[in-house]
Amino acid sequence: MSELIIHGPNQLEGEIAIHGAKNSTLPLMAAALLCEEPCVLHNCPNLSDVDTSLKILRHLGCGAERSGGDIFIDPRTTDHFDIPDALMREMRSSIIFLGAIISSMGQALLSFPGGCELGPRPIDLHLAALRKMGIVINENHGCLECSVPDGIHGAVINLSFPSVGATENIIITAVRAEGTTIITNAAREPEIWDLADFLNSCGAKISGAGESTVTIEGVKHLSGCEHRVIPDRIAAATYLAAAAITGSTLTITDIIAEHLAPVFPAFDEAGCKLEIKDNKLKIISPKRLRRIKNIRTMPYPGFPTDAQAPVMAMTTLADGTSMFVENIFESRYKHVGELLRLGANIKVESRVAVVEGVSRLSGAPVEAADLRGGAALVIAGLAADGITEISGLKHLDRGYENIEKNLAQLGADVKRI
Ligand code: EPZ
Repeated sequence: MSELIIHGPNQLEGEIAIHGAKNSTLPLMAAALLCEEPCVLHNCPNLSDVDTSLKILRHLGCGAERSGGDIFIDPRTTDHFDIPDALMREMRSSIIFLGAIISSMGQALLSFPGGCELGPRPIDLHLAALRKMGIVINENHGCLECSVPDGIHGAVINLSFPSVGATENIIITAVRAEGTTIITNAAREPEIWDLADFLNSCGAKISGAGESTVTIEGVKHLSGCEHRVIPDRIAAATYLAAAAITGSTLTITDIIAEHLAPVFPAFDEAGCKLEIKDNKLKIISPKRLRRIKNIRTMPYPGFPTDAQAPVMAMTTLADGTSMFVENIFESRYKHVGELLRLGANIKVESRVAVVEGVSRLSGAPVEAADLRGGAALVIAGLAADGITEISGLKHLDRGYENIEKNLAQLGADVKRI
């Protein structure tokens, strides 16, 4: 198994371009199934989750090729409607293909996506919404057997929680439904806006994406299109946290500053200066960070749950006590145990984590248990004295493109063995 070896402490400097958003690329690849002509997605990140989605598209009979950051999808040869258990287990967010397969094939057979490191990951909101749109879903033997006896029709869907995946599945299912669909309490994440932008470029009629109420007027046909995936705001926040904990001045490029705004107050409070110019952001970090009094994770435009672990890592060396409240996922503190091994002082009480800043971290062997928790270990390892060995890289490779190469290019002593 490969490992990252970080020799700390490090200072970073220079400029890093942020790769395309994983959480936009995946739903876009699913949505391409609805098109009647080929699509090209630009700025797709080179991540294992994207590779899994390519495998799913090919399994469905779709043409799906990658060349650098471009993905070419030809949905005209789609002739399957199932996702094998192995692929569902490889990437639980494969549930995002459900609406696209049903809408394009009139049926779907998916195994129930297992839980993951973040908790059970229920899909009740997805299923309830699709049933309201005329889809019959039988759940047995761990499988979802979906059919559309009388076609898919629009509906008014009030989400009890602004679920990102459920919002995406509903939009994808609604674009070619009979009639109009209205989603209230929809997720407002930038990835929802990006999905609607892609579908509208193909001829869909979606309005209000990125707001709490989204209206989708069903159309008969969708053409193909070329679309550039938005930058990954979570990868951007991760590199900012790496700069902050190492007292570095760093410029990140290819970002959309507005998408990062929910994390700005945390970096401001920690004493970092942020200078924004067009699609570039320069962070100037103090020698020692100040504590961040209280971070509550919330749906967008609140503080993103995916940035909780990376920002927690940077507060482990801050001057004072920081507090985190994780409101989105059940168990998203798996990185805490590993941060303690590096010398951090953190106490967790159910959804609350209290981080007492220490004066130094010391390198140790640690293991990533999930994607963003793994990023937290890299961030802490960069600032820890001595050698930090990080295993469990399969988690990191799901969401960060060439993380060790990027950090080494910024001056960090990190290598993958
Ligand atoms: C998306 O997951 C992202 N994944 C997650 O990123 C991200 O953390 C999450 O949104 C929140 O922003 C992708 O986009 C591929 P949710 P998703 O549905 O859609 C509960 C990463 O690190 N819920 O908004 O699964 C659920 O249990 C990943 O890149 C239900 O109860 O998130 C959770 O507590 C991790 N029933 C909360 O809602 C449902 O039917 C948020 O889930 C659906 C969700």
